Amino acid sequence: MKRILSGITPSSTKGLHIGNYLGMVKPAVGLQSEGECYYFVANLHALNTVYEPKDVMHNTFNIFIEYLAFGIDPIKTVFYVESDIPEIPYLQTIINNAVTVAELKRMHAYKDKLQDNVSPDSIGFGMFSYPMLMAADILAFDTEIVPVGEDQAQHVEITRDIARTFNNRYGDILVVPELSVQKSVARVPGIFGDKKMSKSLGNDIPIFGSEEEVKKQIMSIKTDPARIHPSDPGDPKKNIAFTYLDLLNYDSNNEDDSLPKLSEMKERYKKGTIGDVEIKKILYSFFLSYFADSRAKKHELAKDTNAMYELRMQGAEKARATASKVIDRVKKAVGV
Ligand code: ADP
Ligand code: TRP
Repeated sequence: MKRILSGITPSSTKGLHIGNYLGMVKPAVGLQSEGECYYFVANLHALNTVYEPKDVMHNTFNIFIEYLAFGIDPIKTVFYVESDIPEIPYLQTIINNAVTVAELKRMHAYKDKLQDNVSPDSIGFGMFSYPMLMAADILAFDTEIVPVGEDQAQHVEITRDIARTFNNRYGDILVVPELSVQKSVARVPGIFGDKKMSKSLGNDIPIFGSEEEVKKQIMSIKTDPARIHPSDPGDPKKNIAFTYLDLLNYDSNNEDDSLPKLSEMKERYKKGTIGDVEIKKILYSFFLSYFADSRAKKHELAKDTNAMYELRMQGAEKARATASKVIDRVKKAVGV
């Protein structure tokens, strides 16, 4: 079995949305039976942007239990919080010597910052060295495969370069990881249809939001603008509600027989015999039943903070058992 590793940065007080779920969590849950998985909450990465300690703690706990609520199995998978593993920043200090400033300056995240007309000298060093912490996250566990979204591909590429540079200098010490970009999942569009769904754009459907929040977002979904009355013919491609129903495999997952099939809804939409509001109501009802188990589970887990702490400590112990072996090998190789 290959060793698979991935992390999520707890940078927002808002919980996961359906873009995160389809683009990242669902594939991660699926991979648990295909490899030896290491999944973690990248809370040290969050310090680049979150300066309020209470928020860091809240976001970390929140993402931790949301992952569990979606079916991350802490028996099958090594599931931990980045800051509990001191071997990671230790390794980062060592591999800092296997990269140049020029290589780091080529990173998109850094270049994007510069485009905001920011002077390079004012960029935080934590932001600049972000890819090094990410490389350490990966290399500390002899990771073989890193599944990430397109936006993170460059960080995995630099990790591979760093491992090769290190190995050229010291011998075959670090495992060079493979990148696996998840192309099968489209970028889930936001509710206004123009941009990708993102928690920072206010265009998301929060999976663990209150029923009111979910309803408000679903009712604001952009629909075919050419359609003024429910009796006007419409184009299903221009109503994002259909996109979500497609992406969540409505036909196979809907358990409510009183609701119509997707193909039927689309036909009726084209003919003008079903209203936008009705489609949104169907999506809302389906959404709540699709995520009912996860929503209930999160609610339960949130109550048992002691058990969650215990789980977190057990995850850290398992993760450190692996990382400390890698660190021992690395220390010996470099002579410290
Ligand atoms: P956000 O854009 O909401 O801040 P993040 O950047 O924290 O989300 O992304 C966390 C994970 O979720 C990443 O693996 C990313 O690829 C995935 N993801 C985020 N938004 C989407 C989306 N709209 N469609 C598909 N995957 C997404
Ligand atoms: N940088 C990733 C993101 O923003 C999160 C992350 C941190 C990560 N360390 C990682 C992903 C290591 C994969 C492997 O989404």
